[in-house]
Amino acid sequence: AVIALADRFGRVATDLRVSLTDRCNLRCTYCMPAEGLAWMPQPEQLTDDEVIRLVRIAVEQLGVTGVRFTGGEPLIRRGLVGIIAATAQLNPRPKMSVTTNGIGLERLAPALRDAGLDRVNVSLDTLDPDRFRTLTRRDRHADVLLGLRASAEAGLTPVKINTVLMRGVNDDEAPALLRFALEHGYQLRFIEQMPLDAQHQWDRHAMVTADEILAALTPFDLQPDDVSRGTAPAETWLVPGHVDAAGESARVGVIGSVTRPFCGDCDRTRLTADGQIRNCLFATEESDLRKLLRDGAPDTEIAEAWRVAMFGKRAGHGIDDPSFLQPARPMSAIGG
Ligand code: GTP
Ligand code: 5AD
Ligand code: SF4
Repeated sequence: AVIALADRFGRVATDLRVSLTDRCNLRCTYCMPAEGLAWMPQPEQLTDDEVIRLVRIAVEQLGVTGVRFTGGEPLIRRGLVGIIAATAQLNPRPKMSVTTNGIGLERLAPALRDAGLDRVNVSLDTLDPDRFRTLTRRDRHADVLLGLRASAEAGLTPVKINTVLMRGVNDDEAPALLRFALEHGYQLRFIEQMPLDAQHQWDRHAMVTADEILAALTPFDLQPDDVSRGTAPAETWLVPGHVDAAGESARVGVIGSVTRPFCGDCDRTRLTADGQIRNCLFATEESDLRKLLRDGAPDTEIAEAWRVAMFGKRAGHGIDDPSFLQPARPMSAIGG
């Protein structure tokens, strides 16, 4: 029987986000330093079987209905296709998606689809290969574009693009990025930068706000969407005169995590690559399921520990509170 992941504010977590590795093959300047980070030692990382067991418990005992695989970069996890195939066998079968930087997608998209993956979200902050190299410190722009195309061809749709706009870096590209997405049938979402970088250099004034993003898009005459945002972080707008790959009116999203927080409707629970439950992206405490797992705890006990972890979820991220503290783990070790 399912006993859901409820918290004391009445929110229920049905969306599980699983970080499969803290490593990445890019070095985005807003995420990590050029030399990378002190990666998680292999023995601390959950094995494929351990990940699959926790996902099964989440679906069978906790009522999770959607699973997103993230990183670091999830495509560099060797067992990814097998983990997705095993997740697809669960009953009821959860919706499955991957958030990736797109490198390697060209090769992997068909296998991911065949394993049962429903969708992908691909990060892309610029259309300019030189700028991409400066931003990510790697010369892989073409790979990302090929990955996008392969995902669409494999039917991993709607393919969504995540773009973090940064003042003086790529904020001049908002209209061009939207035109690119419209032309190819991808759904673009602009993201406000959050204080989750490993270098702790986030600066509120450098953040391009949702209002600024919308102002930059006035030439598109965006119209309010007819579907409500629900628990989704993205607020979407209709783009008149354009249709998406499914023939519906095209949309563009803005994820205003900082200036338009959606914490009140949050339905997320997160599992890190080393088996810790985080009840929030910005949680400062975690709950160790790996220890329970490796000590031989039964499913019911693990499920109960997970419920306890979620019950204590805070009302919101509190970025605006004077007492706000950035979590010790950077975004790359939590997952997007
Ligand atoms: P779909 O629209 O269903 O694909 O989901 P999604 O928007 O959650 O997908 P994705 O993993 O691509 O996340 C997009 C961005 O939303 C991330 O890069 C974050 O910036 C932001 N985000 C995701 N989860 C959270 C969260 O729990 N809290 C906050 N504040 N922001 C989040
Ligand atoms: N704030 C907002 N988004 C971020 N991402 C990485 N770091 C941050 C941050 N500090 C984005 C990546 C990717 C997604 C998973 O999260 O660009 O698109
Ligand atoms: Fe890798 Fe994502 Fe961080 Fe870029 S933002 S370095 S793609 S984990």
